[in-house]
Amino acid sequence: MAFRLPFLKNNRQVNDRLLTTENLPKHVAIIMDGNGRWAKKRGLPRVAGHKEGMKTVKKIVRKAVELQIEALTLYAFSTENWKRPKPEVETIMKLPNEFLSTYLPELMENNVRVQTIGYTEALPQHTRNAIHIAMEKTANNTGLILNFAINYGSRAEIVEAVKQIATDVKQNKIMIDDIDEDCISEHLFTRKISDPDLLIRTSGEVRLSNFLLWQNAYSEFYFTDVLWPDFNEEEFEKSLAVYQNRKRRYGGI
Ligand code: FPP
Repeated sequence: MAFRLPFLKNNRQVNDRLLTTENLPKHVAIIMDGNGRWAKKRGLPRVAGHKEGMKTVKKIVRKAVELQIEALTLYAFSTENWKRPKPEVETIMKLPNEFLSTYLPELMENNVRVQTIGYTEALPQHTRNAIHIAMEKTANNTGLILNFAINYGSRAEIVEAVKQIATDVKQNKIMIDDIDEDCISEHLFTRKISDPDLLIRTSGEVRLSNFLLWQNAYSEFYFTDVLWPDFNEEEFEKSLAVYQNRKRRYGGI
Protein backbone atom coordinates (compact mmCIF):
# COMPACT_ATOMS: atom_id res chain seq x y z
CA MET A 1 0.00 0.00 0.00
CA ALA A 2 1.45 3.35 -0.97
CA PHE A 3 0.36 5.48 1.96
CA ARG A 4 1.97 5.63 5.35
CA LEU A 5 -0.06 6.53 8.35
CA PRO A 6 1.41 9.49 10.25
CA PHE A 7 0.10 8.21 13.59
CA LEU A 8 1.76 4.84 13.08
CA LYS A 9 5.28 6.03 12.34
CA ASN A 10 6.72 2.72 13.33
CA ASN A 11 5.19 -0.67 13.13
CA ARG A 12 3.44 -1.52 16.34
CA GLN A 13 3.59 -4.63 18.46
CA VAL A 14 0.10 -5.97 19.19
CA ASN A 15 0.12 -8.97 21.53
CA ASP A 16 3.32 -10.44 20.11
CA ARG A 17 2.28 -9.71 16.56
CA LEU A 18 3.43 -6.88 14.42
CA LEU A 19 0.69 -4.59 13.10
CA THR A 20 2.14 -2.83 10.11
CA THR A 21 0.87 0.20 8.28
CA GLU A 22 0.90 -1.72 5.05
CA ASN A 23 -1.32 -4.58 4.03
CA LEU A 24 -4.27 -3.53 6.14
CA PRO A 25 -7.59 -5.00 4.94
CA LYS A 26 -9.55 -2.63 2.74
CA HIS A 27 -12.90 -4.01 3.80
CA VAL A 28 -13.63 -5.54 7.21
CA ALA A 29 -16.95 -7.27 7.88
CA ILE A 30 -18.00 -8.03 11.45
CA ILE A 31 -20.61 -10.33 12.97
CA MET A 32 -21.16 -8.52 16.26
CA ASP A 33 -22.17 -11.44 18.47
CA GLY A 34 -22.47 -11.97 22.21
CA ASN A 35 -24.47 -8.98 23.41
CA GLY A 36 -27.07 -11.17 25.11
CA ARG A 37 -24.48 -13.27 26.94
CA TRP A 38 -22.59 -10.16 28.01
CA ALA A 39 -25.76 -8.85 29.63
CA LYS A 40 -26.71 -12.20 31.18
CA LYS A 41 -23.29 -12.51 32.82
CA ARG A 42 -24.05 -9.23 34.59
CA GLY A 43 -27.65 -10.07 35.49
CA LEU A 44 -28.87 -7.41 33.06
CA PRO A 45 -31.62 -7.65 30.43
CA ARG A 46 -30.40 -8.64 26.95
CA VAL A 47 -31.15 -5.19 25.59
CA ALA A 48 -28.49 -3.76 27.91
CA GLY A 49 -26.01 -5.85 25.93
CA HIS A 50 -27.17 -4.34 22.66
CA LYS A 51 -26.81 -0.83 24.07
CA GLU A 52 -23.31 -1.62 25.26
CA GLY A 53 -22.64 -3.15 21.84
CA MET A 54 -23.49 0.18 20.29
CA LYS A 55 -20.63 1.76 22.25
CA THR A 56 -18.29 -0.85 20.76
CA VAL A 57 -19.50 0.15 17.30
CA LYS A 58 -18.35 3.71 18.01
CA LYS A 59 -14.92 2.54 19.18
CA ILE A 60 -14.37 0.31 16.16
CA VAL A 61 -15.54 2.96 13.71
CA ARG A 62 -13.09 5.46 15.22
CA LYS A 63 -10.26 2.98 14.94
CA ALA A 64 -11.21 2.07 11.36
CA VAL A 65 -11.14 5.78 10.47
CA GLU A 66 -7.76 6.19 12.13
CA LEU A 67 -6.33 3.24 10.18
CA GLN A 68 -7.85 4.50 6.92
CA ILE A 69 -9.75 1.29 6.32
CA GLU A 70 -12.01 1.76 3.31
CA ALA A 71 -15.15 -0.11 4.36
CA LEU A 72 -16.61 -1.60 7.53
CA THR A 73 -19.71 -3.77 7.22
CA LEU A 74 -21.49 -4.52 10.50
CA TYR A 75 -24.14 -7.22 10.83
CA ALA A 76 -26.69 -5.42 13.01
CA PHE A 77 -29.84 -7.41 12.27
CA SER A 78 -30.45 -10.52 10.20
CA THR A 79 -33.61 -11.56 8.37
CA GLU A 80 -33.83 -14.32 11.01
CA ASN A 81 -33.61 -11.94 14.00
CA TRP A 82 -37.34 -11.13 13.76
CA LYS A 83 -37.86 -14.41 15.66
CA ARG A 84 -36.58 -12.75 18.84
CA PRO A 85 -38.95 -11.47 21.54
CA LYS A 86 -40.79 -8.37 20.37
CA PRO A 87 -39.37 -6.00 23.03
CA GLU A 88 -35.84 -7.00 22.05
CA VAL A 89 -36.53 -6.42 18.35
CA GLU A 90 -38.07 -3.05 19.21
CA THR A 91 -34.98 -2.03 21.16
CA ILE A 92 -32.63 -3.06 18.36
CA MET A 93 -34.75 -1.08 15.89
CA LYS A 94 -34.28 2.02 18.05
CA LEU A 95 -30.49 1.71 18.06
CA PRO A 96 -29.82 3.25 14.63
CA ASN A 97 -31.63 6.40 15.72
CA GLU A 98 -29.86 6.47 19.08
CA PHE A 99 -26.52 5.86 17.44
CA LEU A 100 -26.89 8.22 14.52
CA SER A 101 -28.55 11.08 16.38
CA THR A 102 -25.67 11.35 18.83
CA TYR A 103 -22.84 10.32 16.55
CA LEU A 104 -23.67 11.89 13.20
CA PRO A 105 -21.62 15.07 13.80
CA GLU A 106 -18.53 12.97 14.52
CA LEU A 107 -19.19 10.79 11.48
CA MET A 108 -19.36 13.96 9.39
CA GLU A 109 -16.18 15.30 10.94
CA ASN A 110 -14.44 12.03 10.11
CA ASN A 111 -15.68 12.01 6.52
CA VAL A 112 -17.57 8.71 7.10
CA ARG A 113 -20.22 7.66 4.64
CA VAL A 114 -23.15 5.66 6.05
CA GLN A 115 -24.73 2.98 3.88
CA THR A 116 -26.90 -0.06 4.43
CA ILE A 117 -27.42 -3.48 2.92
CA GLY A 118 -30.54 -5.52 3.52
CA TYR A 119 -34.29 -5.25 3.17
CA THR A 120 -34.61 -1.86 4.82
CA GLU A 121 -38.10 -1.27 3.41
CA ALA A 122 -39.40 -3.80 5.97
CA LEU A 123 -37.99 -1.83 8.93
CA PRO A 124 -40.16 0.40 11.14
CA GLN A 125 -40.60 3.89 9.76
CA HIS A 126 -38.59 5.55 12.56
CA THR A 127 -35.63 3.24 11.87
CA ARG A 128 -35.81 3.96 8.15
CA ASN A 129 -35.97 7.69 8.81
CA ALA A 130 -32.86 7.64 10.98
CA ILE A 131 -30.93 5.66 8.38
CA HIS A 132 -32.21 7.79 5.53
CA ILE A 133 -31.12 11.04 7.20
CA ALA A 134 -27.66 9.66 7.96
CA MET A 135 -27.22 8.33 4.43
CA GLU A 136 -28.30 11.62 2.90
CA LYS A 137 -26.11 13.77 5.13
CA THR A 138 -23.03 11.63 4.61
CA ALA A 139 -23.61 10.87 0.92
CA ASN A 140 -20.76 13.07 -0.30
CA ASN A 141 -18.24 11.94 2.29
CA THR A 142 -15.28 10.13 0.80
CA GLY A 143 -13.70 8.36 3.77
CA LEU A 144 -14.69 5.14 5.52
CA ILE A 145 -17.86 3.47 4.21
CA LEU A 146 -19.80 2.44 7.31
CA ASN A 147 -22.14 -0.18 5.99
CA PHE A 148 -24.86 -1.51 8.31
CA ALA A 149 -26.37 -4.87 7.37
CA ILE A 150 -29.91 -4.49 8.68
CA ASN A 151 -32.60 -7.04 7.93
CA TYR A 152 -29.95 -8.66 5.80
CA GLY A 153 -29.88 -12.31 4.68
CA SER A 154 -27.40 -13.59 2.17
CA ARG A 155 -29.48 -16.40 0.68
CA ALA A 156 -32.42 -14.07 0.09
CA GLU A 157 -30.01 -11.61 -1.53
CA ILE A 158 -28.72 -14.32 -3.88
CA VAL A 159 -32.28 -15.48 -4.71
CA GLU A 160 -33.21 -11.91 -5.63
CA ALA A 161 -30.10 -11.58 -7.80
CA VAL A 162 -30.92 -14.82 -9.64
CA LYS A 163 -34.51 -13.67 -10.24
CA GLN A 164 -33.33 -10.32 -11.59
CA ILE A 165 -30.79 -11.93 -13.90
CA ALA A 166 -33.38 -14.47 -15.14
CA THR A 167 -35.75 -11.60 -15.87
CA ASP A 168 -33.03 -9.77 -17.80
CA VAL A 169 -32.38 -12.90 -19.88
CA LYS A 170 -36.10 -13.40 -20.51
CA GLN A 171 -36.40 -9.82 -21.71
CA ASN A 172 -33.33 -10.27 -23.94
CA LYS A 173 -31.44 -7.57 -22.02
CA ILE A 174 -28.56 -10.01 -21.52
CA MET A 175 -27.56 -13.40 -22.95
CA ILE A 176 -27.02 -16.49 -20.82
CA ASP A 177 -23.31 -16.33 -21.65
CA ASP A 178 -23.16 -12.84 -20.15
CA ILE A 179 -23.79 -14.36 -16.73
CA ASP A 180 -20.46 -14.52 -14.96
CA GLU A 181 -19.15 -13.82 -11.45
CA ASP A 182 -19.09 -10.06 -12.03
CA CYS A 183 -22.68 -10.17 -13.26
CA ILE A 184 -23.79 -11.88 -10.04
CA SER A 185 -21.73 -9.52 -7.84
CA GLU A 186 -23.34 -6.55 -9.56
CA HIS A 187 -26.79 -7.82 -8.60
CA LEU A 188 -26.01 -8.00 -4.88
CA PHE A 189 -26.55 -5.27 -2.26
CA THR A 190 -22.76 -4.91 -2.05
CA ARG A 191 -22.31 -4.09 -5.73
CA LYS A 192 -20.40 -0.86 -5.02
CA ILE A 193 -18.08 -2.27 -2.35
CA SER A 194 -15.16 -4.65 -2.76
CA ASP A 195 -15.48 -8.07 -1.12
CA PRO A 196 -14.44 -8.23 2.55
CA ASP A 197 -10.77 -9.01 3.07
CA LEU A 198 -11.34 -9.89 6.70
CA LEU A 199 -14.39 -11.30 8.44
CA ILE A 200 -14.51 -11.07 12.23
CA ARG A 201 -17.00 -12.87 14.46
CA THR A 202 -17.01 -12.31 18.19
CA SER A 203 -18.34 -14.44 21.08
CA GLY A 204 -16.88 -17.83 20.20
CA GLU A 205 -19.46 -18.85 17.59
CA VAL A 206 -17.79 -20.26 14.50
CA ARG A 207 -20.28 -19.89 11.68
CA LEU A 208 -21.33 -17.47 8.97
CA SER A 209 -25.02 -17.19 9.85
CA ASN A 210 -26.14 -16.24 6.34
CA PHE A 211 -23.78 -13.26 6.18
CA LEU A 212 -22.23 -12.26 2.83
CA LEU A 213 -21.96 -15.88 1.62
CA TRP A 214 -20.92 -14.93 -1.92
CA GLN A 215 -18.79 -11.97 -0.90
CA ASN A 216 -16.81 -13.86 1.77
CA ALA A 217 -15.60 -16.51 -0.70
CA TYR A 218 -11.94 -15.48 -0.26
CA SER A 219 -12.08 -13.52 2.99
CA GLU A 220 -9.81 -14.35 5.88
CA PHE A 221 -11.84 -15.40 8.93
CA TYR A 222 -11.03 -14.32 12.47
CA PHE A 223 -13.00 -15.79 15.35
CA THR A 224 -12.59 -14.61 18.92
CA ASP A 225 -14.22 -15.62 22.20
CA VAL A 226 -14.47 -11.97 23.23
CA LEU A 227 -18.11 -10.87 23.46
CA TRP A 228 -19.00 -7.91 21.25
CA PRO A 229 -19.49 -5.39 24.11
CA ASP A 230 -15.99 -6.32 25.35
CA PHE A 231 -14.42 -6.07 21.90
CA ASN A 232 -12.35 -2.90 21.70
CA GLU A 233 -9.65 -1.06 19.77
CA GLU A 234 -6.94 -3.40 21.02
CA GLU A 235 -8.90 -6.53 20.09
CA PHE A 236 -9.57 -5.02 16.68
CA GLU A 237 -5.88 -4.29 16.13
CA LYS A 238 -5.12 -7.85 17.20
CA SER A 239 -7.44 -9.20 14.51
CA LEU A 240 -5.75 -6.95 11.94
CA ALA A 241 -2.31 -8.16 12.97
CA VAL A 242 -3.48 -11.78 12.61
CA TYR A 243 -4.83 -10.91 9.17
CA GLN A 244 -1.48 -9.47 8.17
CA ASN A 245 0.21 -12.71 9.08
CA ARG A 246 -2.04 -14.76 6.83
CA LYS A 247 -1.00 -15.74 3.32
CA ARG A 248 -3.85 -15.15 0.92
CA ARG A 249 -3.49 -17.56 -1.97
CA TYR A 250 -6.90 -17.41 -3.68
CA GLY A 251 -6.58 -21.06 -4.63
CA GLY A 252 -2.99 -20.70 -5.87
CA ILE A 253 0.12 -21.89 -4.08
C1 FPP B 1 -25.96 -10.44 18.35
O1 FPP B 1 -25.78 -10.71 19.71
C2 FPP B 1 -26.27 -9.03 18.18
C3 FPP B 1 -27.37 -8.53 17.52
C4 FPP B 1 -28.36 -9.38 16.87
C5 FPP B 1 -27.60 -7.09 17.47
C6 FPP B 1 -26.38 -6.34 17.13
C7 FPP B 1 -26.59 -4.91 17.33
C8 FPP B 1 -25.66 -4.10 17.87
C9 FPP B 1 -24.34 -4.50 18.33
C10 FPP B 1 -25.90 -2.66 17.96
C11 FPP B 1 -25.90 -2.13 16.58
C12 FPP B 1 -25.75 -0.72 16.57
C13 FPP B 1 -26.26 0.05 15.60
C14 FPP B 1 -25.82 1.43 15.56
C15 FPP B 1 -27.24 -0.42 14.60
P1 FPP B 1 -26.79 -11.69 20.43
O2 FPP B 1 -27.94 -10.92 20.93
O3 FPP B 1 -27.14 -12.81 19.49
O4 FPP B 1 -25.92 -12.22 21.60
P2 FPP B 1 -26.01 -13.67 22.26
O5 FPP B 1 -25.58 -14.64 21.19
O6 FPP B 1 -25.05 -13.58 23.38
O7 FPP B 1 -27.43 -13.89 22.71
